[in-house]
Amino acid sequence: MSALRILPPNGLATLSALTALLSPLPPGPKGLFLIGNIFDVPRQSPWLTFREWGRKWGDITSITVFGQTMIILNSVKVAEDLLDLKGANFSVRPVIQMGGEMVGFRDTISLKQDGNPLRQERRLFHQLFGSNKAVERFIAKLLQFLLQNPGQLKTEQPRTTGAIVLRIAFGYEVKEGKDEFIEMFDTRNAIFSRSTHPTAFLVNLLPILRYWPEWLPGGGFRTLAKKWAKDLQVTLDAPLEYVKQEMAAGTAERSFTSTLLEERTGQDELITWAASAVQAGGSSTTATQLESFFLAMTLYPEVQAEAQEEIDRVVGNGRLPDISDRANMPYMTAFCRELLRWHTVVPTGIPHRTREDYIYERDGHPAYLIPKGALVFPNLWFALSLFRHMSHDPDVYPDPMTFNPNRFIETDTKKSEQDPARICFGYGRRVCPGKLLADASLFLVCSMVLSVFNIRKASKDGVDIEPVLGQTTGTVSQPLPFGCTLEARSEHAIALIQGSSGHGAESGLTG
Ligand code: HEM
Repeated sequence: MSALRILPPNGLATLSALTALLSPLPPGPKGLFLIGNIFDVPRQSPWLTFREWGRKWGDITSITVFGQTMIILNSVKVAEDLLDLKGANFSVRPVIQMGGEMVGFRDTISLKQDGNPLRQERRLFHQLFGSNKAVERFIAKLLQFLLQNPGQLKTEQPRTTGAIVLRIAFGYEVKEGKDEFIEMFDTRNAIFSRSTHPTAFLVNLLPILRYWPEWLPGGGFRTLAKKWAKDLQVTLDAPLEYVKQEMAAGTAERSFTSTLLEERTGQDELITWAASAVQAGGSSTTATQLESFFLAMTLYPEVQAEAQEEIDRVVGNGRLPDISDRANMPYMTAFCRELLRWHTVVPTGIPHRTREDYIYERDGHPAYLIPKGALVFPNLWFALSLFRHMSHDPDVYPDPMTFNPNRFIETDTKKSEQDPARICFGYGRRVCPGKLLADASLFLVCSMVLSVFNIRKASKDGVDIEPVLGQTTGTVSQPLPFGCTLEARSEHAIALIQGSSGHGAESGLTG
């Protein structure tokens, strides 16, 4: 059994300070004087470097850059001990100078510090979740598009996911072709990703640079921050204005924002940021997970066939699958679990920050200090075979790089492997508030697409093009670019797709 000990808040302060002084940081690569581990910070695929550190130093390691400690958690056990069991101490987020403070993302949920406003916003997510009907309607549109433009899957799929969340967040219907909201939010997401990346701007590592004069060489980041702050403001004002105008005209579709505007007058700021988080959180992560679905289907035709066999048996060929079918589809349920595990969309999580000094003790391990203000990264991807590890641990998930839904099917002779939803949506008080929506969207898109399409590798001159495996570096990590082709499974499938515009036409929020 492991034990955790919290230092007493006061009274025994001297003893606490002494204990903290005597306990070492978790082990890790040795840093240089003053600058610390700046040259050890991985720029590419950090989860792989973290894995190597884990293999060398164990499931909790640390580095320090310019005095800022970063703690890497490489097992479910240590992540649960700290982020779940002692969540109150780990529920704050890092202060990110460029993205958070200078551009203004500090008020978005994922960067918001703990406290009442955050709790209120998270409660809104739980109360007002998008309905499966709203999701189904847009998925039906995706199917129609794929039938007409199978070659454009890679460009249209993220757009469709974007459309789903815009509908849920603002009741906004995306236009054919160029759409101003899609473009506006694409820009917002790109600004967020770049400006909040810990190593993209020096000011994110060395906060004092925030006061570097704009007119001096190297001050260009301040001009950029001002421009991005304006762009961000537009993405906050425009959708709110849109919903208010639609409501005034009596034409508003019921959405996250319209529902909240009715219920919470005078709370525009709260509503705006919460709706923006639905958009941002929902579009990039879910779109990326779906990309990995198409990749997996090109690589594992036998899994595709097994999934289609179940869909055909349970749903028949007179309609598309819907969420109520899930209870009768154990293989597709396992399939979606495997998707979450196989391609870990947020491989190193979103960092948490420590509120107070912590001494972390476990039986058989030395006690480690996790200092106040340390950034804590759960390596959600990691594979290490000593403890209970994350999504690619060969002890927990044998043959972890293979896409195999059967690992989650219980039989007389074997139990299901650990549910990766426990890992891939993060931990503690900051666990992903969109996990239910994500879960439903994945089931619906995957089962609908497989019910009507066969997915194959792209080919040139009759020869299959083998996808290059790997994933991009970033908070949200995509599969490397690959091609695939889709063909309708039958005339009947084509008829289903063409008739699907009315499918789930009822939209809006439940509740
Ligand atoms: C496959 C899809 C998704 C995955 C894998 C995913 C994963 C994650 C992870 C790992 C975190 C960080 C949790 C932590 O700090 O411990 C997170 C946070 C968050 N996610 Fe998701 N997510 C997905 C879909 C969604 C959707 C659909 C929404 C919105 C409707 C959403 C909204 C958010 C928000 C607002 C946060 C920040 C929460 C906070 O800081 O308190 N996510 N997500």
